[in-house]
Amino acid sequence: MNEESRILSSQAKTEKKPEKDYSKYFEHVYQPPSLKDAKKRGKEAVNYHSDFTIEEKYQSLGKGRKYYIRTYGCQMNEHDTEVMAGIFEALDYTATNDVNDADVILLNTCAIRENAENKVFGEIGNLKHLKLEKPDVLIGVCGCMSQEESVVNKILKSYQNVDMIFGTHNIHRLPAILEEAYMAKAMVVEVWSKEGDVIENLPKSRLGETKAWVNIMYGCDKFCTYCIVPFTRGKERSRMPEEIISEVRDLARRGYKEITLLGQNVNAYGKDLDISYGLGDLMADIQKIDIPRVRFMTSHPWDFDNRLIEVLAEGGNIVPHIHLPVQSGNNEVLKIMGRKYTRESYLELVEKIRAQMPDVALTTDIIVGYPNETEEQFLDTMDLYEKVGFEHAYTYIYSPREGTPAAKMKDNVPMREKKDRLQRLNKLVEKYSEETLQNYLGQEVIVLCEGPSKKDEEVLAGYTDKNKLINFRAPKEAIGQLVKVKVTETMRYSMNGELIAILDQVGVTH
Ligand code: SAH
Ligand code: SF4
Ligand code: F3S
Repeated sequence: MNEESRILSSQAKTEKKPEKDYSKYFEHVYQPPSLKDAKKRGKEAVNYHSDFTIEEKYQSLGKGRKYYIRTYGCQMNEHDTEVMAGIFEALDYTATNDVNDADVILLNTCAIRENAENKVFGEIGNLKHLKLEKPDVLIGVCGCMSQEESVVNKILKSYQNVDMIFGTHNIHRLPAILEEAYMAKAMVVEVWSKEGDVIENLPKSRLGETKAWVNIMYGCDKFCTYCIVPFTRGKERSRMPEEIISEVRDLARRGYKEITLLGQNVNAYGKDLDISYGLGDLMADIQKIDIPRVRFMTSHPWDFDNRLIEVLAEGGNIVPHIHLPVQSGNNEVLKIMGRKYTRESYLELVEKIRAQMPDVALTTDIIVGYPNETEEQFLDTMDLYEKVGFEHAYTYIYSPREGTPAAKMKDNVPMREKKDRLQRLNKLVEKYSEETLQNYLGQEVIVLCEGPSKKDEEVLAGYTDKNKLINFRAPKEAIGQLVKVKVTETMRYSMNGELIAILDQVGVTH
């Protein structure tokens, strides 16, 4: 771990927090996290550690105390929450779902768009009353927002109800940070601007018993001009194949039915390792493990190689679904975004994938209203959507992120125009989603039953291999099992069906 990049500050032990001039109080000890430092990509080797332990002095830190974590953002954050929950439990804390009942509250935040951040600031504000009622409760902010200088400064200035801020690179330091927060009785800020080493054996308290996240790499080096992730998550670091494979084997042994391999740009997996081993090789090895479903996300079209397509086409436990964010269908916009592919090369890739996997489901992410995007450029995106015929998409209005190149670009597109483009695109997305589902009417599909549906406790819900949501009535024994369901009705984003059978796992791939 790089000591220089480690920013640690804690206010001296005082009985009370100062009411005013808080940042001045920190002047000699406080250094904000730096987006500039976060951008530096050193050549120094990443060290791998498997010797994480909870020091004895922390082991009963949580005795009689409860923790609550609220997670915002992507799967990576959800998985980090599972790690932090694991650490809390190793410290003898117990989980609670009731924020009012918690002794420690963590907000695991997301910085991807401004509205994601606003939600978090709203929530920190809401927690002010709790702190007044229960002054001993600890409130922490972690995750991607903590890696931003402006956020840390804003919290220091305006949210003195926060007791600790730590970032994405040092969650393994949670025991020490907690202890410091208890002792200091004042805000503890520990944010490392640059990533540290890969720590392998952190405890995990997984939320599900059927589906599990498996990190295969950390960080992103793509620096798409709009995106904050390379700053908040550091440089690309792949986990060792044997560590990933042994984690997947362990999950299979414990009865998990589905895993999702996670990375910001999983196609770059292995490029930073000394061995010649890429995502295709990893997937081929995971194909041999007896776990019914393997998903992966997110793919970047730039690194999608033939070896990977070949392995995916073999199928087996790898689901026939690829999430392949395109962001825009116009070459000039793609260039300004720094995506490093063109509309034509994206379409070629789609063709190549479909030639080997005719049945594949493709979904995507799209940003509308990029700085100076013209109506024609937007229409190219609409046109590409139809050409590919995506089954679904996540769509966003461009949101400027401080420190990224796009945030400095002048923008002549009015917000009402951006909203209008989003609406038109969403109509198209809805149309394709609805039509895709209509094709399932009367068919039998295999579903991983996850539990009661959102709307009705009596109805169960699950997903098909292509990630289509389906609701059906079935006995509780179906939960956590692969089941066969006949589709009886289709809506815009989900389907209803009738249970045909609860399947014996043997011989069922997905
Ligand atoms: N690593 C993934 C994406 C992670 S972020 C990839 O490269 O595809 C998920 C999605 O959020 C992105 O695909 C993009 O569509 C959107 N997004 C990222 N930054 C954004 C911004 N500044 N404004 C609007 N949408 C953004
Ligand atoms: Fe962001 Fe681009 Fe990296 Fe995805 S590939 S996380 S959009 S910089
Ligand atoms: Fe958000 Fe960080 Fe994920 S910015 S999308 S939580 S990597």
